[in-house]
Amino acid sequence: MCGIAAYLGWQQAAAILADALRRLEYRGYDSAGVATLNNGELHCCRAVGTISALQKKLIGKPLPGTMGIGHTRWATHGSVTELNTHPHFSMDGKFAIVHNGVVENFASIREFLSLQGYNFYSETDTEALVNLIAYHYAKEPENATKDRFLESVRKSLLHVRGAYGIAVICCERPMEMIGARNSSQLILGIGKDELFLSSDVASFTTHTRDVVFLNDNELVHIKNDSFAITTLNMEEVAAVRQQVDWDTVAVELNGYPHFMLKEIFEQPHALENAIRGRIENDTATAHLGGLQMTAHELRGINRIIFCACGTAWCACLVAEYFIEKIARIPVEVEYASEFRYRNAPLDQKTLLIVISQSGETVDTLAAMREAQRRGIRVLAITNCVGSAIAREANGGIYQHSGPEIGVASTKAFTSQLCIAALLALQLGRLRDLSEADGMEIIGALKQLPAQVKSILDQSSHIQAIAERYQSCTDMIFLGRQSMFPIALEGALKLKEISYIHAEGYPAAEMKHGPIALIAPQCPVLCLACNEENIFEKTLSNIQEVRARGARTIIIAREGSPIGVTDDVIWIPPAHDVTIPILATIPVQLFAYHMGILRGCSVDKPRHLAKSVTVE
Ligand code: F6R
Repeated sequence: MCGIAAYLGWQQAAAILADALRRLEYRGYDSAGVATLNNGELHCCRAVGTISALQKKLIGKPLPGTMGIGHTRWATHGSVTELNTHPHFSMDGKFAIVHNGVVENFASIREFLSLQGYNFYSETDTEALVNLIAYHYAKEPENATKDRFLESVRKSLLHVRGAYGIAVICCERPMEMIGARNSSQLILGIGKDELFLSSDVASFTTHTRDVVFLNDNELVHIKNDSFAITTLNMEEVAAVRQQVDWDTVAVELNGYPHFMLKEIFEQPHALENAIRGRIENDTATAHLGGLQMTAHELRGINRIIFCACGTAWCACLVAEYFIEKIARIPVEVEYASEFRYRNAPLDQKTLLIVISQSGETVDTLAAMREAQRRGIRVLAITNCVGSAIAREANGGIYQHSGPEIGVASTKAFTSQLCIAALLALQLGRLRDLSEADGMEIIGALKQLPAQVKSILDQSSHIQAIAERYQSCTDMIFLGRQSMFPIALEGALKLKEISYIHAEGYPAAEMKHGPIALIAPQCPVLCLACNEENIFEKTLSNIQEVRARGARTIIIAREGSPIGVTDDVIWIPPAHDVTIPILATIPVQLFAYHMGILRGCSVDKPRHLAKSVTVE
């Protein structure tokens, strides 16, 4: 949540930062701002609304200087006003800061500073931090051995409880900048005679792919075109330089009207990437190299707990069906935000698996750390290379979905399901799954990209269906077994993209309460993609809601005898392990078209942000 960017080099900083913020906008879009430093003077421009509002203002008020900091905000402390928009300045006007995260003890810092005569103009936690830096700077003597700027930032951060990724500049320090992180991603980009700081590499990959991922409790001090990394305890850190290989085209719309639609259509390719190199035909199994566990260790696991938030949590529910059915290992699924504070009994044969597209979700990270603190091995399924979750997990599997910019997760979700299927296959083959059953799963996975493509070809049919339902006020999604998590995910997608109230239920649960909601303005979308008797039971549930006046949309395998319905979307017949992935595509397209028809901002839905880095 919130995105920060900083630049120090030879180009005009404001333009570079405005472009970087545009690429970071998925992280928050309440308001945005930029500050530059030129000839010892700080200049600032801030605007409420999206980055385009800031860009318009910058045209009328160009900011001079070849170094600066920028921020796109998702409000936590303080309402969405220009006063609360970053960058924030110290009362003495010497420091400007951008901050992603939450200073949990900001009230006590503010109280302390108030007693020292500091005034505050915003309601933010960040303004307390920048003034604390100014306070330490004022007290810190010029010293031959210690850098006063670095010392004042370091000492301030030692007092901070909470999460932060920050970039700070000081009007007395031309061509210098300090960045620091704790539980909030911060990456240094190294260009030719220019350096970048950002919450996401995607913001500067047009300039450089040479990066250093900072670790928690590290500070980077940039001076001209060089940098030094130290810990909060002043230990020197050797920078680990890496090349990121994300395609910059992936962060452009590339002819699509929205990132969400582009990413929905990228799914055949994303699924190919998730599968590539991970199948062993000879032994009818999958090989997920990043697990860092021997076959013996994997056989020793007798319980798996999956933990995640939001859409990734829905992916965990599908993983539960796959792993219990294919590998016969008991699985539990937890919301990370609940698990982290619950004293769940765990033992050494329990494996925790976290799923996170961003690899930054604070609750998922905390759940993982809690399990590790208790000696439990944690694996991560994530899309973001170098993210905190990827680096701290004991092993894991990268999704290789490419950057996901649309706030609503689409291609990352189906890739997570695909990886869950591969994991179930690998675990199953280490236990009782027969070679023939393993080969069947492999065959199904190989067909997946082409089958997904055939559903994408129905986009205009799904749009026509959406036109008939666009004015509904509520919607219910039903499914049984592995279709139940897809019903939850379909409802979540519709809620966030079209602002229609939607709920997902196991189809038979309808009768236990929600059926009371059925009315002409509350249609039912039913995922009737299961086989045989479960399919028949789902059909009965559909007839129950139709008998009470519900309009129905059915998603079913081609050729299934679905009976009477208002609308139908067919998906190709497929194996149980790929059916949930295929059934997801129509609900994504339905949510997208509903959002567009209702004039919603599908890539940046209100109140949401892509990486949730606050609790
Ligand atoms: C919904 C959505 C969110 C995320 C959730 C977890 O479309 O995208 O519900 O799934 O915030 O995010 P990650 O996967 O980054 O941990």
